[in-house]
Amino acid sequence: MVLFWLPRLIAFENPPKIVLGFESSCDETGVALCTTDGRILGQALYSQIAMHKDYGGVVPELASRDHIRRLIPLMEDTFAQAGISMAEVDAIAVTTGPGLPGALMAGCAFAYSLAMGLNLPVIAVHHLEGHLLSPLLSANPPAFPFTALLVSGGHTQLMGVEGMGRYTLLGETLDDAAGEAFDKTAKMIGLPYPGGPALSKLAEGGNPERFKLPHPMLHSGDFMFSFSGLKTAVLTTAMKLAGVKQPSETMVISDTDKADLAASFQAAIVETLVKKALAACLQQDHKRLVVAGGVGANKLLREQLVKAARKRGVEVYFPELSLCTDNGAMIAFAGAMQLAENPTLLEKREYGMFTRPRCELATSNS
Ligand code: KG4
Ligand code: ZN
Repeated sequence: MVLFWLPRLIAFENPPKIVLGFESSCDETGVALCTTDGRILGQALYSQIAMHKDYGGVVPELASRDHIRRLIPLMEDTFAQAGISMAEVDAIAVTTGPGLPGALMAGCAFAYSLAMGLNLPVIAVHHLEGHLLSPLLSANPPAFPFTALLVSGGHTQLMGVEGMGRYTLLGETLDDAAGEAFDKTAKMIGLPYPGGPALSKLAEGGNPERFKLPHPMLHSGDFMFSFSGLKTAVLTTAMKLAGVKQPSETMVISDTDKADLAASFQAAIVETLVKKALAACLQQDHKRLVVAGGVGANKLLREQLVKAARKRGVEVYFPELSLCTDNGAMIAFAGAMQLAENPTLLEKREYGMFTRPRCELATSNS
């Protein structure tokens, strides 16, 4: 009898806590409610893509102002979905960095004020930790330890992950991030913002072997990346195809040439990411490889990683497609995992708001 009741008693005395999370580091406003046992109770997301499209990229001032407009309606939607009230929330998590300074300020000012008004603790979440842990929300979550390939618009990093908060940087890009290279290359060949999804769609109909583009750092023997040379090679090839001498001249390229160039670029970047990620995973003696961040939505990257990993006995884990790009669920979840790991966070009452537009999640051991 006692044995039967014991787990229930523990559950009663120690019910899961509820964390309300906010994401506003770039051009997506995300809000979500997550429990310390890893359930998403509700989530709402607004993407500013349509607003920034006309400018060919994110306009920081417009982004900040729009976050302010969206936060309250998205929070109301999240609570309606979860069917709970604000009084049931135990802590508030918010992305404090890295990201656009004004955009971070909008989310943090809102989250800190709300927490202060409700006398709740604030849990600061590093945006990359949100991405890094997002595959744990999928139907088939990875166990620790694992190697993580973080590929977003602002970062390309390989990370050794031993457990919550135990991260080691294994390598990163020396210049452009993978997503940034996708975006800039897409812009060069006349594709709309955001370039990554547009370029990969175009690449589906192209010949990836037509143009021999460089694979920078592929044989560097470490886990560093560099994508700016690849981007320049695409520009030079596009100029040749269009018969222009200056990059500022208008380039007219046929649809076939564009698709072949997109496919060749995508193949080069994917090959580099796959080879380095697997090498890092094997060096770490990890059996699991986790991919996160916006570029993790790329179909070719997913296919090639799974194929290469299978040959080496490594299993690859991805976030759900909808959780690859920025969202509130990953921030509420990272906050909830921090709280599960360290319940004393519940007692914290510090409202000196801070944002960290540039900050590292982990440093290297060497
Ligand atoms: O993680 P994320 O939403 O934002 C940052 O934290 O940076 O990543 C956005 C990046 C953009 O550069 C976008 O072009 C890229 O992810 N991206 C893709 C795909 N979907 C999004 N890149 C390649 N293929 C995709 N399918
Ligand atoms: Zn992101």
